[in-house]
Amino acid sequence: MSRRFDGQVALVTGGAKGIGRAAVEAFSTEGAAVVIADIDAAEGEALAQSLPRTVFVATDVTRIADAERAVRVAVETFGGLDILFSNAGIVMYNLIENVTEEHYEREMGVNFKGHVWMCKYAIPEMRKRGGGAIVCTSSVQALATQTTVAIYAASKAATLAMVKAVAQDHAHEHIRVNAILPGSVDTPMLRNAAREFDPNDVDGVIARWGNMHPIGRVITAQDVAKLVLFLCSDDASALTGAAYLVDGGLMAKLPVILPDS
Ligand SMILES: NC(=O)c1ccc[n+]([C@@H]2O[C@H](COP(=O)([O-])OP(=O)(O)OC[C@H]3O[C@@H](n4cnc5c(N)ncnc54)[C@H](O)[C@@H]3O)[C@@H](O)[C@H]2O)c1
Repeated sequence: MSRRFDGQVALVTGGAKGIGRAAVEAFSTEGAAVVIADIDAAEGEALAQSLPRTVFVATDVTRIADAERAVRVAVETFGGLDILFSNAGIVMYNLIENVTEEHYEREMGVNFKGHVWMCKYAIPEMRKRGGGAIVCTSSVQALATQTTVAIYAASKAATLAMVKAVAQDHAHEHIRVNAILPGSVDTPMLRNAAREFDPNDVDGVIARWGNMHPIGRVITAQDVAKLVLFLCSDDASALTGAAYLVDGGLMAKLPVILPDS
């Protein structure tokens, strides 16, 4: 087993469940000390206790003080910060005419402002270490989208734009910043969405979504974690300011069905 992150410290937001959880487990397996920053204390604490050199810090990424504390916990507990996987996110379905101020503030807050606050506090600590790697979770919805997710799509596109700009600002300090754009990933978020469409056949809905992806299945959280770890590894030292699809070919596909010949 390669241990690419021995001696490094990684902070993962939204690390209690789903994609973030898979990344926490993968970073830990490959030698990193890990800080799990999440609003779900029960899942986050339990995960932290199951892994070596891993701590949980209750964090709502929309709150600037929470973001500052999460980074401070990494520094005080493990001596610094090398990696930020800024991944916490939520999805709320609505037509724009029905979007309330509360909906807007919450979804943009978690999905976009959270990245701003986490980068704000992580970058000075990475500078002290002589460099670092940041990965922000965007979505294929930043590029092409569907019905009833106007704010979600906008938050993911904003994340992508921010990543490109922050990468410019800090490349000379060896701090790399990239975005990942997942297709449908089998996580609690996707299962909750599937439940809204058909509470009696969640697996069936997910299988149908999987069939829309050229690989014929949805993405696993572990598939995404592998990309995140690669982007944070020394093998990716030339990669910054870019967006990486992990979508089973979804964005390469036009909805064209040839007539039977
Ligand atoms: N699942 C998908 O199909 C999919 C596709 C594309 C992008 N994404 C993105 O991937 C990221 C992770 O999604 P997931 O599917 O693992 O979701 P999930 O709901 O399964 O897990 C998200 C985690 O984030 C935490 N969280 C929510 N709000 C938070 C906040 N304010 N502060 C800190 N933590 C918070 C939750 O407690 C949870 O542990 C999100 O940014 C999501 O938008 C997911």
